[in-house]
Amino acid sequence: MAIRTISALLALLTIASASPRQPRSCGHTGATTAEIKCPIIFDGRIKSALTATDFDSSSTSPFNPDYVKGQGLKWSDIILFPTDAGTSRFDSAGDANATAEYKPLEVTISDKSIFQNQNGFRRAGLQFQGDSNNDSPAVKGVKTIHFSVKLDPTRPFNLSHEYLNVWHEAADYSANQFNFQTGTIIGQTGLPKDTWKVLNRQNRQIWSTPIERSDWQNFAITLDFDKNTLQVYYSKGNDPLKSVTSAVANDNSGAGQYQVGILKKPTGTSDVVNSGFQERYLNEGLIYGGLFIENSNGGCVSL
Ligand SMILES: *[C@@H]1O[C@H](CO)[C@@H](O)[C@H](O)[C@H]1NC(C)=O
Ligand SMILES: *[C@@H]1O[C@H](CO)[C@@H](O)[C@H](O)[C@H]1NC(C)=O
Repeated sequence: MAIRTISALLALLTIASASPRQPRSCGHTGATTAEIKCPIIFDGRIKSALTATDFDSSSTSPFNPDYVKGQGLKWSDIILFPTDAGTSRFDSAGDANATAEYKPLEVTISDKSIFQNQNGFRRAGLQFQGDSNNDSPAVKGVKTIHFSVKLDPTRPFNLSHEYLNVWHEAADYSANQFNFQTGTIIGQTGLPKDTWKVLNRQNRQIWSTPIERSDWQNFAITLDFDKNTLQVYYSKGNDPLKSVTSAVANDNSGAGQYQVGILKKPTGTSDVVNSGFQERYLNEGLIYGGLFIENSNGGCVSL
């Protein structure tokens, strides 16, 4: 786990935002259907027929059944399939069929969400099957990770805490190449808590948007592992994604793995991994949809 002791210093630095450049659209016309036209490297979309216990076995789960979760918990204890959340943009279009073939998935945390002996964190993070820590196909060339998020009003976050929700951690666990986060980023008092934020490897925010209370929000992050850049795409509801940053310089080296879910940091400590305050009787969740990583070689990004 990357521990950020210099985040306060980094908060003082700002990044000039460059004007966004739109990608080649892969033949997508901008209509409301969201076809995935680029080759999928890892598919984390949840087929409608999948059950919670399917997530406990590597033969049926799209994710690693063993990571990253509280000791003694199974993924079937952690995930929910909300039925009143609607379907996110890339789940409703699927591939060739325009009918909903995929459903949303909710990741939850509780007091039991303590991974190994990390008593400071509460966490549950999905790793794509096949996303090995070294030599993963998802850390070569140009790749785009897609995810849509929606709040669960019955399992709200406490935004006085710092949350990591989607990130890529280097193979030696010394840093994250990027973080998609919300809440109160420790040591960065200038950032509002109620936004979704994309931070670079130096934990500097490169883009943010307000959290929507009741709409799907769709994100994509393109990582160019040759040119060492990252670029953010965003839309609300069923709107096509738009590029919201240029391809900004970022150190994408060090291989490693993607993770999708919830990592809630404690408050009141400088040792966030091991100590600090977490409220009891935790019942928090975040709804995900449209999870996949596509090959963006040649500039292909599904919008
Ligand atoms: C569309 O979905 C139906 C029902 O699942 C399936 O039989 C058919 O093969 C699909 N068509 C394509 C082109 O994927
Ligand atoms: C939210 O987090 C803050 C900081 O840890 C804590 O003081 C507060 O009690 C929490 N709120 C709830 C409702 O648990």
